Amino acid sequence: MPLIRCAEERDLDRICVFLSMNLEYFSPDVLNFFRSQWPGGQILAEDVFGNLLGVLCGSVTGKGACISLFAVDEGSRRKGVGSSLLEAFCRECFMRGYRTVTLEVRTDNMNAIAFYESKGFFRTEFLPGFYNDGGDAYRMELRICRTG
Ligand SMILES: CC(C)(COP(=O)(O)OP(=O)(O)OC[C@H]1O[C@@H](n2cnc3c(N)ncnc32)[C@H](O)[C@@H]1OP(=O)(O)O)[C@@H](O)C(=O)NCCC(=O)NCCS
Repeated sequence: MPLIRCAEERDLDRICVFLSMNLEYFSPDVLNFFRSQWPGGQILAEDVFGNLLGVLCGSVTGKGACISLFAVDEGSRRKGVGSSLLEAFCRECFMRGYRTVTLEVRTDNMNAIAFYESKGFFRTEFLPGFYNDGGDAYRMELRICRTG
């Protein structure tokens, strides 16, 4: 079982490296912004040796809680790490009074869409050209009724 905990300031550099390898490059400023906005919404998974297995960075918009960045190490996928991160994030959302979580996902990211749909997310919008490279997105939403 992975260890799930909130990201601390000391974790930010290696989270940047991790995201570059498993998602895309993000500057530490982006992560600092999320952390200053919502410290409890920045969650990571580690193995017993302290190696990073996954990261979920949440943010808050006018509409509530969002998943902004989410990735599991390629060699650790389909082992429940993403599920554990999402569960911890939903618990944090629930404690803060958020009852929905939204996110955007590339329409061709079938693995992530399958993951989100398996967790009860549903598509609410098609967003043509949402990404800088012109890629399309779905907006998805999860209603949080209770915490695990
Ligand atoms: C999406 C992601 C975070 C899921 O993490 P994960 O640790 O592999 O997910 P879990 O092992 O907890 O999967 C839980 C369930 O989701 C579904 N699922 C996950 N990955 C899937 C896939 N590739 N194909 C089909 N279903 C999948 C399954 O129902 C799975 O349960 P099962 O393994 O018992 O069948 C991971 O695939 C990832 O990091 N992808 C690359 C980055 C990315 O696309 N991030 C999302 C950006 S919006």
